[in-house]
Amino acid sequence: MSLNNSQNKRLAVLTSGGDAPGMNAAIRALVRVGLARGLEVAGIRRGYRGLLAEDFSSLGPRDVSNVIQRGGTILKTARCAEFATTAGQQKAREILERHNIAGLVLIGGDGTLRGGMDLAKLWPGQIIALPGTIDNDLFGTDYTIGYDTALQTALEAIDKIRDTADAHERFFLIEVMGRHSGFIALHVGIASGAEGIILPERQLDAGGLCRELCAARERGKTSSIIVVAEGKETGGAFKLAEELKRLSQNEYRVVILGHLQRGGAPTTADRLLATKLGAYAVDLFQQGATGVLAGEVNGKLCATPLEQAVTRKKSLDEFLLRIHPELST
Ligand code: F6P
Repeated sequence: MSLNNSQNKRLAVLTSGGDAPGMNAAIRALVRVGLARGLEVAGIRRGYRGLLAEDFSSLGPRDVSNVIQRGGTILKTARCAEFATTAGQQKAREILERHNIAGLVLIGGDGTLRGGMDLAKLWPGQIIALPGTIDNDLFGTDYTIGYDTALQTALEAIDKIRDTADAHERFFLIEVMGRHSGFIALHVGIASGAEGIILPERQLDAGGLCRELCAARERGKTSSIIVVAEGKETGGAFKLAEELKRLSQNEYRVVILGHLQRGGAPTTADRLLATKLGAYAVDLFQQGATGVLAGEVNGKLCATPLEQAVTRKKSLDEFLLRIHPELST
């Protein structure tokens, strides 16, 4: 059942989970396009935690001035354990009803989308999600908002490390974010000319990596960069460095890029994607859609059921995986 009728034109928007550059551009587009079409838009601060705390305020066009170029999120974000409980979701339903919300726009990653799926079981309003995460790990969109900026930030950092690696003829392990997926690691690894790329999707063969790195030295390579996806836990690159040292006696320097990758001004690609998807969320609301992720696939805007967006796995680029050993000779 949808509450989208002529009496109720009130949308609410929140950002949740890890922030991603471009979230502000998405909020701006949603607010401006929504208001232009006669809707009301309420901002909920601090994600699901703010929803449970009833931290709502109406957003006007000037509230989203001067934000398209800013990283982070003007609505703030949080991770919220209470919302993961049925009691928390029940409370959220009551609050949304009290505030007369017809549509809730969620901007975040897989945890945010899963929260939306849980809420959809209790609350009859429309739920529309936008993919806001640097990890790019959502099915139903080729790219997530923030991914391109994170890649650019990581690439600039790795280029700088290459200078010092080259000067000292050193081995460096550089850990990038991405949680369970290797999109950032694979793409930034290829773009930075990394000799090694360690991905959560692939079995780690430390012995094989060690042999390749030593063979590359013998072929005249003077520095080596190994990009390591954080995988299950941050800091895994330190363990790998110890293992490689044990196998080869070489010294490995470790750099964890960490939250640096989440900040900064969004790139042009992220601003455009966020703007399109923010406006498209309004289209979807007006069409009566619910329980969907707004995304862009092959240049076309599309809506994918939330369940598919979080359960289906988007594949890494097989071509890049195949050519990497040849590129790093
Ligand atoms: O999902 C985005 C992300 O930046 C992941 O890449 C990373 O594993 C995680 O969030 C870090 O979360 P937190 O900011 O809570 O430490």
